[in-house]
Amino acid sequence: MDKLIITGGVPLKGEIRVSGAKNAALPILAATLLSDGVVTVGNIPHLHDITTTMELLGRMGVELVVDERMNIEVDSSSIKDFYAPYELVKTMRASILVLGPLVSRFGEALVSLPGGCAIGSRPVNLHIQGLSKMGADIKVEKGFIRAKAKKLKGTRLIMDLVTVTGTENLMMAATLAKGTTTIENAAREPEVVDLANCLTAMGAHIDGAGTDTILIEGVDSLNGTKYDVLPDRIETGTYLAAAAITGGHVRLKDTRPEMLKAVVEKLKEAGADITLGDTWIEINMHGDRPQAVNVRTSPYPAFPTDMQAQFTAVNVVADGTGVISETVFENRFMHVHELQRMGADIRLQGNTAVTRGVQRLTAAPVMATDLRASASLVLAGLVAAGDTAVDRIYHIDRGYESIEEKLAKLGARIRRVPG
Ligand code: EPZ
Repeated sequence: MDKLIITGGVPLKGEIRVSGAKNAALPILAATLLSDGVVTVGNIPHLHDITTTMELLGRMGVELVVDERMNIEVDSSSIKDFYAPYELVKTMRASILVLGPLVSRFGEALVSLPGGCAIGSRPVNLHIQGLSKMGADIKVEKGFIRAKAKKLKGTRLIMDLVTVTGTENLMMAATLAKGTTTIENAAREPEVVDLANCLTAMGAHIDGAGTDTILIEGVDSLNGTKYDVLPDRIETGTYLAAAAITGGHVRLKDTRPEMLKAVVEKLKEAGADITLGDTWIEINMHGDRPQAVNVRTSPYPAFPTDMQAQFTAVNVVADGTGVISETVFENRFMHVHELQRMGADIRLQGNTAVTRGVQRLTAAPVMATDLRASASLVLAGLVAAGDTAVDRIYHIDRGYESIEEKLAKLGARIRRVPG
């Protein structure tokens, strides 16, 4: 397994481009299953999860053509089966996003139940309940979700919990259902809005995306379109945190600052000087050590759980004590044990981590366990004295396009060594 070797101590400086959002590209690629025409999706990041999604669609008989700029042209007219195998779903839980489109357009789907993952059990009961309420006959047996439906019917759905992919799956299913569907207590993430905008470009009738109540008027069919996914707000936030932890001065371009309000506020609390443009964010720490902050994760627009590990890393070298509360997932502190091995002073109490900042971390061999935890270990390596080796970085390659190139462009001493 490849490793990243990072030699700490360099304040990051310079400008890099933000890639397209993984968590928008995945549902939008699934949404192409709903279209009678050809859908071309642009600004796709070059990530392992995208390759997995393309393989998943390809195995169904869907035709995909990728150009050198990672625009993907998808034609589902030649689809021959509606099956998502365990061997793919176990590597990428977001494969569940094909369930709604398959049942809604083709009337059937056989999708492996995504198992849990490092950060939690992550059930999909709300996806299943919603489709059942829309009239799908769903059986969960032998590790699979078997769904059949002559024609889904619009209905009123009240989500027990705010679920991002649950909202996306049901919104996609509702676009071809008979009648009107309302999704209440819907997720408000920008990626949900991006999916709704793409579906609308395909001819869907959707109102309220981005609020907690989404209304979808079913139509008979959806047509082809060309759509570019929005920039990745978590990649943006991760590089902002990298500048904060190293006391650097960085500009991130081709992003959307309005998607990161909660993160920008926390960075300002940590002492960062932040300037916002229409499509760029600049952070300047003036070489100073960050101040510790308190963070409580919650669904959008509050502080994102996908930025929790990164801010834990910033806190462990910050001035003062910070309290980090994780309210979305039940086991999203896997990075804490690895940071402790680098000299961090963190006390875990249930879903809360209390950090006491130290002046310096020391390099150590550490292991990535999930996507954002691995990002936090890279951030820690950027400031630790010595060479930090981060192992199992396939986790990172799922969500960060060319991470070592982008960090090296900002002056980091980082290299990938084949494991
Ligand atoms: C999406 O996951 C993101 N993934 C995650 O990003 C992100 O952490 C998460 O939303 C929260 O923002 C994609 O968009 C592909 P949820 P998702 O359903 O949709 C519980 C990353 O790092 N729940 O919003 O799977 C669930 O257990 C990844 O890029 C149920 O109980 O998350 C969790 O506690 C990690 N039943 C909470 O809801 C359900 O049917 C929120 O999960 C569905 C969810």
